[in-house]
Amino acid sequence: MADTTTAAAIAGAAPRPALWQGQTEHVPLPARLVRVRQLTPHEKYFAVRPETDAPLAYYPGQFVQLWVPLAGEAPISIASAPAGPGSDAPPSAACEAGPDCFEIAVRSVGNVTRALHAMREGDLVGVRGPYGHGFPVEEFRGGDLLLVAGGIVFAPLRSLLRHLLLHRGDFGSVRLLYGARTPEDFLFRDEMDALAREGDVDVQLTIDRPAAGWAGHVGVVTTLMADLPLRVWRTWAVVCGPPVMYKYVIIALDKYRLAPDRIFLSLERRMECGLGKCGHCQINSQYVCKSGPVFTYAAVRHLPEAFATL
Ligand SMILES: Cc1cc2nc3c(=O)[nH]c(=O)nc-3n(C[C@H](O)[C@H](O)[C@H](O)COP(=O)(O)OP(=O)(O)OC[C@H]3O[C@@H](n4cnc5c(N)ncnc54)[C@H](O)[C@@H]3O)c2cc1C
Ligand code: FES
Repeated sequence: MADTTTAAAIAGAAPRPALWQGQTEHVPLPARLVRVRQLTPHEKYFAVRPETDAPLAYYPGQFVQLWVPLAGEAPISIASAPAGPGSDAPPSAACEAGPDCFEIAVRSVGNVTRALHAMREGDLVGVRGPYGHGFPVEEFRGGDLLLVAGGIVFAPLRSLLRHLLLHRGDFGSVRLLYGARTPEDFLFRDEMDALAREGDVDVQLTIDRPAAGWAGHVGVVTTLMADLPLRVWRTWAVVCGPPVMYKYVIIALDKYRLAPDRIFLSLERRMECGLGKCGHCQINSQYVCKSGPVFTYAAVRHLPEAFATL
């Protein structure tokens, strides 16, 4: 059911499904790491199975608070496609480890993420969520999708992309522009290469500087945006990247006169509670954990802090 709270209206983003059964606001749901693998030199893939019998409803773009024993919690985007209520996709297509799992891609940067990287398949973690507002996939139906990603912040877009692929007939053209520093830094590179070969999605990858063995495009992601055949009246742009990238992608989109309420951004902020209580994630008057992390550009364009480097 649609969430009509002020926060949802401000965000212009998807409604929020209920919390997964078995947790309370402050007590995470126990969950097993059922599959773990190295994705890049700095990031690992985890398939997580919460210990609940209820379906895992969520929207692409939502996140969980992942608790790692003896280390603490970190907000992490869900990288898989939803298969719960609201999705008519076959449940097994959502996560490679099974319909009762969700997937994440995590960079090791500090206490929590380092401890997570040291864990093995079968180990126990905790999850709270799903939190925040995701991408309004129902609203996107029938439209063209332009996805622009940079670095690790590809994770929420991968969830959206998987959803689009599972419901491919519901959407028009899908174009993914994905930039990384080096060829090794692309998340889910094998999937992107397969998609590019299949031709159903226009996938364009770029790296910042020339690298040995790379025959593809070189330059920041905006260099892929100079001459796009966009049907602006039916295009939704979804941008996920480091804060510095947003400014330049918005300038590039501006040339096509894409309306600010057709541009969606996922903003990352330092978070503690994920519940709109501690204020850690506040941007001007908004709590990113509750009103976001997905916002329309129209909703945040006047908030200078939204695009500040963390
Ligand atoms: C909504 C949301 C979704 C996220 N999704 C993912 C994801 O899918 N995969 C992933 O790897 N990371 C993701 N992050 C970032 C992740 O939450 C942080 O990297 C993590 O909290 C760091 O915790 P730590 O204890 O390992 O590191 P800490 O010891 O807390 O910090 C280590 C370093 O990382 C910096 N840092 C901490 N939090 C952030 C942040 N939010 N953004 C930028 N720098 C930060 C710190 O300043 C410090 O320099 C997400 C963050 C948010 C808010
Ligand atoms: S993380 Fe506490 S208010 Fe958002």
